[in-house]
Amino acid sequence: MASTQAARSAEVLVASNRGPVSYEVRPDSTGGTLHAKRGGGGLVSGLSAIGSDAGTLWVCSALGDGDREAVRRGVGEPGVRMLDIPADVHADAYNGIANSVLWFVHHMLYQTPLEPVFDAEFRRQWASYETYNRAFAEALAEEAAEGAAVMVQDYHLCLVPGMLRELRPDLRISHFSHTPWAPADYFQLLPDDIRSRLVWGMLGADRLGFLTSRWARAFMDCANGIDPERVTAYTPIPSKPQYIEHTLTGLSPLRRTLIGVHGLGADADFLRARSHEPDVEERMAALREEIGEGRRTIVRVDRTELSKNIVRGLLAYRQLLDDHPEWRERVVHVAFAYPSRQDLAVYREYMAEVRRLADEINAAYGTPGWTPVLLHLKDDFARSLAAYRLADVALVNPIRDGMNLVAKEVPVVSDEGCALVLSREAGAYWELGEDAIVVNPYDVLQTARALHEGLSMGPAERAERAKRLVAAATALPPAQWFLEQLRALRDVQPS
Ligand code: G6P
Repeated sequence: MASTQAARSAEVLVASNRGPVSYEVRPDSTGGTLHAKRGGGGLVSGLSAIGSDAGTLWVCSALGDGDREAVRRGVGEPGVRMLDIPADVHADAYNGIANSVLWFVHHMLYQTPLEPVFDAEFRRQWASYETYNRAFAEALAEEAAEGAAVMVQDYHLCLVPGMLRELRPDLRISHFSHTPWAPADYFQLLPDDIRSRLVWGMLGADRLGFLTSRWARAFMDCANGIDPERVTAYTPIPSKPQYIEHTLTGLSPLRRTLIGVHGLGADADFLRARSHEPDVEERMAALREEIGEGRRTIVRVDRTELSKNIVRGLLAYRQLLDDHPEWRERVVHVAFAYPSRQDLAVYREYMAEVRRLADEINAAYGTPGWTPVLLHLKDDFARSLAAYRLADVALVNPIRDGMNLVAKEVPVVSDEGCALVLSREAGAYWELGEDAIVVNPYDVLQTARALHEGLSMGPAERAERAKRLVAAATALPPAQWFLEQLRALRDVQPS
């Protein structure tokens, strides 16, 4: 165990599947040296904003061989505890339940022939999901000081609040969903006992956080459908905090779980500074070369993820080249689609489909001096920032997305102020919709028209809109987003 703190001493705890650091073993004559790689993202900057003397602890999973080796050797960063959950339990919980069932339900990705079959295999994986959640709950119970604030993250850990509440009723517990929440009718796909288990797990928290009120309302609808005798979700009363009242067996007769909405924003200071570092400048020069002199760029950067709708994005671009031949040779689609969840066949197939379509467009429309689609599949943050800086139009067209930070980051970083083509199904739509060119993500023709509109937008209008996009995108930077939730959680009266 790589814990660096005495038991029951942490005042603020974060729990998530992926932690702020990961390790790689590099072979050498001593049997391998461990190299740590620190991750970025909202939670990392949020937690570092509290400072290190606040008794903070991040509990996460050991994810690969390097992480497991680090746990075995007792190597660890201060303030991070990695749980070495057996690889098969983790694979079932993470690939089987979290990414193949819960992710699909909340993003409404099931469609023929990819429909769920809840069979014995699913039940076996579910048992692992329970075990995996319990490992987190037990570690948190061990580490948290009396009355500490515990902030659990995401769909991997829906059961942790309920399990932890039973172990440590004194704690203040929150759960934050970084994904959408499924509408009640879609959530009903799940077996009844599993639906109930998920909702009860979440209701162990004092506060539940969501990225938009749309997802918060969906959760409240789902909670209302669970057990009307024991759960009542109060639908929004303007200007009053929303909450759910419920009774949990074995605990106080009536409990209240508050519902909060915190729309994570872009970290403008970090992004602006980072995007002017030499490695980004170098990649800009290389990209300019690839794009070619005087051409417009449509930029997208995503994990290769079904919900990101990359294939329809490429179809829309092809449609643009058909409908507006005047753009041929004058525009390049820079599409970065980074590998994600490659243990799952459906993700690997999706990646192959993206590659196939990009090749097809290049073969059909390309000329000796012009490659219409520049597809890059290898993750490179500096190159993403370089593309952001060069963007004339950003394409963000997910089928469904909790927020989508790319929609917020590109306008902040783009040198000239880009136009934003944005799906109305992204959480970011609720904050950026007025100044974006909004599309239905399934409508390829509309998306093609939106791309044309973005490319044709006059500089004055584009700059004006970009200014407002940046203001909205940076309204709640990560550190503030985190502290706002921590403050609210600390204000909760322990039951
Ligand atoms: C989503 C989830 C995050 C997750 C990320 C990357 O944004 O909400 O919790 O970390 O995807 O997915 P991965 O499976 O690679 O952690």
